Amino acid sequence: MSHHLGFGLGLRPDHYESILEELPDVGFFEALTENYLVPGGKALHYLDRVREHYPVLLHGVSLSIGSTQPLDRDYLRALKALAGRVQPAAISDHLCWTGTAGINLHDLLPLPYTAEALEHLIPRISEVQDVLGRRILLENVSSYAAYQVTDMTEWEFLAELSRRADCLLLLDVNNVYVNSVNHGFDADEFIRGIPIERVAQIHLAGHERHDTFIIDTHDSPIVEPVWDLYRRTRERVGGVSTMIERDANIPPLQELLAELDRARHPGPAGVAA
Ligand SMILES: [Fe+2]
Repeated sequence: MSHHLGFGLGLRPDHYESILEELPDVGFFEALTENYLVPGGKALHYLDRVREHYPVLLHGVSLSIGSTQPLDRDYLRALKALAGRVQPAAISDHLCWTGTAGINLHDLLPLPYTAEALEHLIPRISEVQDVLGRRILLENVSSYAAYQVTDMTEWEFLAELSRRADCLLLLDVNNVYVNSVNHGFDADEFIRGIPIERVAQIHLAGHERHDTFIIDTHDSPIVEPVWDLYRRTRERVGGVSTMIERDANIPPLQELLAELDRARHPGPAGVAA
């Protein structure tokens, strides 16, 4: 289990200079793996400099652990090399399959929550963990449509998968909330169903609300219902490395640091609305 690193932020190029100048009081930075796989680039130079001051976590979008294609060995090799270089405190990706390569959150497609999907995923996760020589964290994704065929709930699926594959979970509280609205389940039941000993990291993010559904855009501040769910999540999960993800409409670093303060001191958990 990766230990509790406190409160961190996603590492974004807009903030490279401010981070290195101000050295803000955060516990870690989470770097998007795919931005640092090209050797010798400017991005990698900044990552090395940030790493001199902070623990770094690697967060990818290309593993496509749920795909029926064979695992991409070149990608795994490059990831392993990057991990050797930055010695990340954690390596994570999403529990999904990606329709196309590249960074597009809407391409992180959910899996059916079936026994068959578990049988497909478990050896693939083992293979990745064998190559990397460590346990990985898999993140629950937001989704807009559900499969007709399903044997269990999303949280039952995550519990079963993490236990049988011996992997860890990156619990995205925003994604839990988004899915609870889009699919009409009780977000607190999700949180209660998650094996807390497997949760090694928490994501918080903002999203875009429409009348009857939510698009997970990561382009705005965290909304109140997600803060509420986060409070109740913390009460159950306890101290876990927690961070805010902002992928678009990126504000000055200070603004995100202020939002992160709220994650540090969220106040007492209220009763579920
Ligand atoms: Fe996330």
